[in-house]
Amino acid sequence: MQNMNAVKVAQKLLKDKVKQASLVLDATMGNGSDTLFLAEQTPPEALVYAFDIQKTAIEKTREQIVQNNWAHKVHLILDSHANMNKYLPDNQKLDVVMFNLGYLPGGSHSLVTKAESTVMAIKKAVARLAVGGRISIVAYTRHNGGQEETLAVEQFVSSLPQNIFTVACWQTINHVNYPPKLYIIEKMRGEMFEGDTSF
Ligand SMILES: C[S@@+](CC[C@H](N)C(=O)[O-])C[C@H]1O[C@@H](n2cnc3c(N)ncnc32)[C@H](O)[C@@H]1O
Repeated sequence: MQNMNAVKVAQKLLKDKVKQASLVLDATMGNGSDTLFLAEQTPPEALVYAFDIQKTAIEKTREQIVQNNWAHKVHLILDSHANMNKYLPDNQKLDVVMFNLGYLPGGSHSLVTKAESTVMAIKKAVARLAVGGRISIVAYTRHNGGQEETLAVEQFVSSLPQNIFTVACWQTINHVNYPPKLYIIEKMRGEMFEGDTSF
C-alpha cells in the first residue's frame, strides 16, 4: 500500500473536485509535486496559483511546470500564503486548496511554515472557499515548531461550524516516527448570511 501516505491520500480525496475546478491553490509549493498535480488534473481553462517563500522552490517548480507545458495556467508566487488575497483574482472563489506544511525537502529546516501565518492563511482560504470546495492540510510534528503548528491548525479547523463545513482527519496509526496528520475541510453549504467570516 505504497500510496497510503498523507500526501497521496490528500490528492485522492481532492481529485474529483480538482477535475471540475476553476481556481485552485497550492499554498506550499516546495518541489512542485502538488502544483504539478493541480496543473495536470484541472480543466484546461482553470487557473492554478502556487506560493512559497523560497526562491529555490519557485525555480524547482517552474522547471517542472515548463517541462510539462503547463506554464499558461500556473502562477508561481514568491510570497507568504498569508498574503494570498493580494494575488488571487478578485471575487473568484477557491475550489481546491492544498497545504503541505513543514520544510522544503532537501532544504533548510529553519525555513518552515509557522503556526501563526499558517492559521492566518487557512482562515483566508476558508473564507474564499466555494460551496463544494475542499482544503487539504498535511501537518508534521517531528521538526521544531511542528507540534505547536499542528495543534494550532487542529484547534482552528475543529472550530469550523458543522452546519457549513465538514472537517475530517486521517493518520496512519501503526507507523513510528511521528506520522503526519491530514486534515480535509469541505464546505457543504453557504454562510448563514453574506459576509459572515466570524469563524
Ligand atoms: C513540505 S514543503 C511543501 C512540499 C510541496 N507541496 C511539494 O510537493 O514538494 C513546505 C514548503 O512550505 C514553504 N513555506 C514555508 N512558509 C511558507 C509561507 N509562509 N508561505 C508559503 N510557503 C511557505 C517552505 O518554503 C517549503 O517549501
